[in-house]
Amino acid sequence: MRKNSGKSKIIRKALALQKFSQEQQGKSIGLVPTMGALHKGHLSLIEMSAKQNDITIVSIFVNPAQFGANEDFAKYPRRLQADAKLCEAAGATIIFAPEPKDMYPAPLQTFVKNIELENMYCGAYRPGHFAGVLSVVAKLFNIALPSKAYFGEKDFQQLHLIRKMTFDLNFPVKVIGAKTIREKSGLAMSSRNEYMSASERSDASSIYAGLLEAKKKHRQGEFSAAKLKAIIKKKIESAGGKIQYIEIANKSDLMPVKAKISEKAVILLACYFGKTRLIDHLEL
Ligand code: PAJ
Repeated sequence: MRKNSGKSKIIRKALALQKFSQEQQGKSIGLVPTMGALHKGHLSLIEMSAKQNDITIVSIFVNPAQFGANEDFAKYPRRLQADAKLCEAAGATIIFAPEPKDMYPAPLQTFVKNIELENMYCGAYRPGHFAGVLSVVAKLFNIALPSKAYFGEKDFQQLHLIRKMTFDLNFPVKVIGAKTIREKSGLAMSSRNEYMSASERSDASSIYAGLLEAKKKHRQGEFSAAKLKAIIKKKIESAGGKIQYIEIANKSDLMPVKAKISEKAVILLACYFGKTRLIDHLEL
């Protein structure tokens, strides 16, 4: 049962949210950071928070600091009113929807950055992206003052980096990771899926199919990272996708598996179908 069943309220200013949170003494606050264009993946996080906390704050903010110059910041879908209804139905108490000028009244000179993983996997192709993510999440923690914060495994490297930031910098926040919600086809739900045509969308189901095939081969005794990566590459390319990277990493520290898998590992990948960049992962 979710703990709150009232209407949700939109707060637009960081200071107003911080004041609200400071006043909630004795009540547990759950935070679900998002960039909006909400789908069932986001809603699963909001529902989880609403079950576990007295108050659930959903932030909706397309964060300019995590987009590269040639990325989709301008065209990223924005639909606050529709999102607000979905948040309310999922049990949110507060929707925090700031303007960029309120989150960044002056250019940031202080960033949070993981010096080991910033430039690996997705970070290798999106310079500055993860520093932008970690910095805005750190700001959101300080503004919303949650005791728990909810993130999807969908963005596996992001979740790893947020856990590490929270640990390294002693944020008094419990980071909770949630399973990836997929379409029936296996395609991981993403706000960016709506950039794709119907045929690209159906071709993109090859990503999860390839991941599952590699996992099956691994279960049957294949430990070579190169061979498992080749299986996925073939599957995606034969459906018309373009691989950006496929890597296998140790789950504990996300360091790449050089040759043979020897501990709990995860496959991480990014690829393009048409102009749409998609990411996915699967734990082995
Ligand atoms: P966004 O892409 O909107 O995702 C918000 C949260 O929803 C993230 O924690 C993400 O991992 C989770 N999510 C997305 N798709 C999911 C799916 N199919 N199943 C389960 N969870 C899913 O990730 C971001 O925004 C931003 O980088 C943010 C953390 C908000 C910082 O700006």
